[in-house]
Amino acid sequence: MTEVASVLVGRGDIRRRVQELGRTIAGDYVGREPVLVTVLKGGAVFLADLMRATPLALEPHFMAISRYGDAEESLGRVQILLDVDIDLAGRDVILVEDIVDTGLTLRYLLGVLRAREPASLEVCTLLDKSARRIVPITPRYVGFECPDRFVVGYGLDFRERYRNLPDILQVDDLEALKSDPAILAPRFAAV
Ligand code: IMP
Ligand code: MG
Repeated sequence: MTEVASVLVGRGDIRRRVQELGRTIAGDYVGREPVLVTVLKGGAVFLADLMRATPLALEPHFMAISRYGDAEESLGRVQILLDVDIDLAGRDVILVEDIVDTGLTLRYLLGVLRAREPASLEVCTLLDKSARRIVPITPRYVGFECPDRFVVGYGLDFRERYRNLPDILQVDDLEALKSDPAILAPRFAAV
């Protein structure tokens, strides 16, 4: 019998990669004070680790959005539920995302942010599911390439579950998870 899910990236590899990303960003933004705009809720776990791994004066800010249906149905149209509360004009902005999949959400958010005339605008994503990309966007900073599988953990959810798993799991039997969303609960025991 195959498992419903398996570890795609373990917590140790996540920690090491996030440290590397932090050092890279600190090197690229020397002498500047970037604004890390993070998309809730998925990006929150990544941001919490990334900002502490980035030895630089920076400001975390948050956005929350809701999609109409899934990204493909909605063509990436989203509603902004929470917006950053500072003026981004002239600032160096890094958009922090959990995962870039089709890129539709990202295209929308980049459009919104670009209209505010930041000095620079880059994307830092934990995972890049580039095989499913519809919009040709290449994030500047990528934690890990992600296979064309549904993933959960380290901020990523299935119906709001599993964001607090310390590892990133790939779901090998999505039907089993859909029919029983709690099926991965035993994974918390390993925490
Ligand atoms: P996109 O607009 O297709 O790029 O969708 C990006 C958003 O879809 C992410 O911010 C996630 O919230 C969600 N998403 C895409 N793939 C996954 C996945 O494998 N697991 C959990 N959420 C995902
Ligand atoms: Mg989600």
